[in-house]
Amino acid sequence: MSFTKAAWPRRLRSQEWYGGESRDAIYHRSWMKNQGLPADLFDGRPVVGICNTWSELTPCNAHLRDLAERVKHGIYEAGGLPVEFPVFSPGESSLRPTAMMYRNLCAMDVEEALRANPLDGVVLLAGCDKTTPALLMGAASVDIPAILVSGGPMLNGWFRGERVGSGTALWQMSEDIKAGKMSRADFLEAEQSMSRSPGSCNTMGTASTMASMAEALGMALSGNAAIPAVDSRRRVMAHLTGRRIVEMVKDDLKPSDVLTLKAFENAICANGAIGGSTNAVIHLLAIAGRVGIELSLDDWDRCGRDIPTIVDLMPSGRFLMEEFFYAGGLPVVLKMLLDGGKLHGDALTVSGSTMAEEIAEVRNWNEEVIRPVDRALTQQGGIAVLRGNLAPNGAVIKPSAASRHLMKHRGRAVVFEDIDHYKARIEDENLDIDENSVMVLKNCGPRGYPGMAEVGNMGLPPKVLRRGITDMVRISDARMSGTAYGTVILHTSPEAARGGPLAIVQDGDMIEVDVAERRIHLDVPEETIRARLESWKPTAREPASGYAKLFHRHVGGADTGADFDFLVGSRGHEVPRESH
Ligand code: FES
Repeated sequence: MSFTKAAWPRRLRSQEWYGGESRDAIYHRSWMKNQGLPADLFDGRPVVGICNTWSELTPCNAHLRDLAERVKHGIYEAGGLPVEFPVFSPGESSLRPTAMMYRNLCAMDVEEALRANPLDGVVLLAGCDKTTPALLMGAASVDIPAILVSGGPMLNGWFRGERVGSGTALWQMSEDIKAGKMSRADFLEAEQSMSRSPGSCNTMGTASTMASMAEALGMALSGNAAIPAVDSRRRVMAHLTGRRIVEMVKDDLKPSDVLTLKAFENAICANGAIGGSTNAVIHLLAIAGRVGIELSLDDWDRCGRDIPTIVDLMPSGRFLMEEFFYAGGLPVVLKMLLDGGKLHGDALTVSGSTMAEEIAEVRNWNEEVIRPVDRALTQQGGIAVLRGNLAPNGAVIKPSAASRHLMKHRGRAVVFEDIDHYKARIEDENLDIDENSVMVLKNCGPRGYPGMAEVGNMGLPPKVLRRGITDMVRISDARMSGTAYGTVILHTSPEAARGGPLAIVQDGDMIEVDVAERRIHLDVPEETIRARLESWKPTAREPASGYAKLFHRHVGGADTGADFDFLVGSRGHEVPRESH
């Protein structure tokens, strides 16, 4: 382990604001004291921010004010001064056009707040999908000591004796309605059963995946990911995280010490083992970009290729996060990866110990939920990266959520130019489509939508559903909700709105997909493709002003994390210019 603790005591960054008897120091302290803070809290002890994505508009994070109080207990107890502050909260369930459009805005907010304020370290409070990567991206770019605590998942949903998984059940039920298998009255009754406690989605969707990624990266305390939001142990986790950040500040243990290539490789392996969301691909690429780690789509395929999915959670499996927690949670999975030689045990974590030290004592309490490798949900977990003339920069598929019989497929394209075109056509009984067709959706990538919507798992046509067909090959430049499933090829890059080959696919073109060979091919003569590309005209117009304009101009492709080009990299904690 290469981490060396810094000397303590020493003068901290916050003392540049609060230290001494100058007019400026008095100015900075005096205003803070209007909150009733005793003078000795400014004596050089660590000043720790609690970066809170609490918002009643982000229901998954609506309980984070309570957790922030627990973090404060821990910080005070360890001899620090906690200061809670809000940042823009990208809530998945309500934001339009898509929460993904605002991940970078949140990350920018975090970065500027951390750098501009007198903070020596930060506790990142996140939950809903985009909040976790956004906070990690912002903190990584400033590189002051940082640790994440998640809000935790909702309790299991139950409806008529069956588990109801956030999102997953919704997608299933809406297909059942279209197929005539469920009544609208039952659908409405099921609504309340899906979300019966505070917390984030209870499936292994993007929120649970990203909480697991934070833990696998070493950026959260061991066991953080799975504790239900309302379990008292979630508060304990917050309290302990508060204690720990004070020690991290003293040791000067920073994100750049933890977020190494080994940490990212560990996270990719963990993603395969948990059957995690394809969204993790984009977010980890973006976080890596902030710390200068050259992570690529090929690393996802290389590290995740032979990782069996052993966590039997929806959307790929049967159970929910509550059961994952009772079974031992992510530490058990990491231990199994370590024992199988798939994890870098020497990767440093925010605890100051290595990953191997953190998980040495864990035990699997339920082998139905966290299965032994010989009873894995699928031997080919992970994310497969497909390439070919339809996706020169790559496209991804989650094999554990796909249908085995469609993993090698040749079919006739049925093309939807954008999501409105899809909505207008899909229920048309005269649409020339059957279960062997390949559904192609364009203009839903980072620039095209804008923001890269979670529409890649577009619903099947009712006339196909009525015949009992539940899956078809679908290809798009969109993302897919982590709670969704199907033979869905996503993130096709370059996206259609940038003139990628996806833009020129036409109805009736033949498309070949071979997941085992990592191949995606548009079976159209090369000269035809070239001619179509030459006559292609961009359809996405640049917005005239505002954040949408900034987003359009600067957002990168999905294959590099969809970060803003001017935000990639670390800018450190130095304030560009003093204002007082
Ligand atoms: Fe917020 Fe799923 S919608 S975690």
